[in-house]
Amino acid sequence: MRKNIVAGNWKMNKNLTESQALITEIRGIVRDENTNKAEIIICPTYLALASASKLLDGSTVKLGAQNCHFEDNGAFTGELSASMLKSVGVSHVIVGHSERRQYFNETNEMLAKKASAAINQGLTVLFCVGETQSERESGDHFNVIKNQISEGLFHLTPKDMELIVIAYEPVWAIGTGLTASSDQAEEVHAYIRSLISEKFGETIADHTSILYGGSVKPDNAVELFSRTNIDGGLIGGAALKARDFFDIIKAIK
Ligand code: PGA
Repeated sequence: MRKNIVAGNWKMNKNLTESQALITEIRGIVRDENTNKAEIIICPTYLALASASKLLDGSTVKLGAQNCHFEDNGAFTGELSASMLKSVGVSHVIVGHSERRQYFNETNEMLAKKASAAINQGLTVLFCVGETQSERESGDHFNVIKNQISEGLFHLTPKDMELIVIAYEPVWAIGTGLTASSDQAEEVHAYIRSLISEKFGETIADHTSILYGGSVKPDNAVELFSRTNIDGGLIGGAALKARDFFDIIKAIK
């Protein structure tokens, strides 16, 4: 019905040589040992994308970027556009990661434009949402997520939604070792699916993969991925070790 996906977000880690080594290791393990049907995506730094694309030629592992600009080209020093990413073989792009929202002041309005720019190039968007610790403590998390989803995605067409994957990443669980319990995650995933269903209809909601992110490790992945509305994970720290990343992929049943 909908795809199971495990994506690795390498963030600002690994130089070119280190990236090439990790890509080669992941590619080899997936080729030799992978038996499940999850779609596997790795998102190295911009620096490594062009050579990653060559290293992944012929592999089932897909290549993603961690960000893109919403314009096609122009005077935006230091930025890269979706069409440039596509030109080196990128098929996926993370949009709206909480670190981009928090440290680079990316607003829902900007993220809506980035999602459209990526879709216009045929890239699949891994669209991230999630509440901070204080938002959860004050019981505001459903509202926060509703705003992030409606302002970031509700301008899209039903057809565009084929290129949207949502990642629920509670900010308090990212890189902290704190994981949302599978009940907490399932509750929010089901809520996100209901929002998509209200706006775009049940069929599209049923086909939209919703990933969980935030301190996913081999030992908590099985429980998280067993839940009805959790269709895989967006993995940070544990994606930097080929074995851990692959053990998380194996947790998809
Ligand atoms: P983490 O990061 O797995 O290190 O918590 C997840 C993410 O930020 O995507």
